[in-house]
Amino acid sequence: MEKILVIGAGGQLGSELTQALANQFGGEQVIATDLRDSARSAFDFCRFQTLDVMNKEALRDLVKEEKVTQIYHLAAVLSATGEKNPLFAWHLNMDSLLYVLELAKEQKLDKIYWPSSIAVFGPNTPKFNTPQFCVKEPNTVYGISKQAGERWCEYYFEKHGVDVRSLRYPGLIGYKSLPGGGTTDYAVDIYHKAIANEKFNCFLREDSYLPMMYMPDAIKATLDLMNAPRESVKIRSSYNLAGMSFSPKEIFESIKKHVPDFQIEFNPDFRQAIADSWPDSIDDSRAREDWGWQPDYDLDGMTTDILKNLPSYFPPKNTLI
Ligand code: SER
Repeated sequence: MEKILVIGAGGQLGSELTQALANQFGGEQVIATDLRDSARSAFDFCRFQTLDVMNKEALRDLVKEEKVTQIYHLAAVLSATGEKNPLFAWHLNMDSLLYVLELAKEQKLDKIYWPSSIAVFGPNTPKFNTPQFCVKEPNTVYGISKQAGERWCEYYFEKHGVDVRSLRYPGLIGYKSLPGGGTTDYAVDIYHKAIANEKFNCFLREDSYLPMMYMPDAIKATLDLMNAPRESVKIRSSYNLAGMSFSPKEIFESIKKHVPDFQIEFNPDFRQAIADSWPDSIDDSRAREDWGWQPDYDLDGMTTDILKNLPSYFPPKNTLI
């Protein structure tokens, strides 16, 4: 019987992935953890406990007491927030991964999931259809920590047989949580402004292309990878993964089809340099070949779905309910 521990469950990915894991394994088998006790109310479908992943003794005790078999380690400081406190971001992103990998080795856990990101790429990486294997010289602390983390994952797989699996997510876009300090998060925020009838102030240039993915596709990819037979997972650093690529202008136009009066203004800030260092589009053929990956959503499909569902999750401020 699998027992799943989700670390950082209250974040953008965790809040949706934990639900999917509870659907697959049953709520009693899933323990959602987060630093903040306030996250508790979102997890009535599974178990919940507060956990500071930097407290490695507490982490080990929990894993042993609960006989955890799989860990999904999602806690991280994202790109834009990371630049405000680089040493803290490095410390949190790196040390926590090493605690989890060591624990997996020591307790012989079945599987580990750890997300990587397009942030592992840098200004010298080929920008279009970025290959799985290529130059990576990330210049954000978030990207550096993800790149180093990928090397550690592969190392623990090869030296210690730890079954750790990972995806290089594009910018993830979902409507069930608020933006969380990422450079790609403008594409989450823009929908909130559209339903509130507010002008959107975009911190990237109108032509700044980035690889993106709608959350249901990200959840599907994660479960497909984790459910794939061990021998099908041939890349143990992290898989390139693609959904769609668009610019701020294109997402604005997609929303305007539903909200004709929507307005936008472009005021690039420090996040533009981060976006400029990342690819425009990603070659994910290895994920397609090795474990059958295929995305379901394009930009317009995502926009239609978000505009239909977002208002009931986060009613716009100017609406009386
Ligand atoms: N979405 C992340 C960010 O912008 C990239 O993985 O930080």
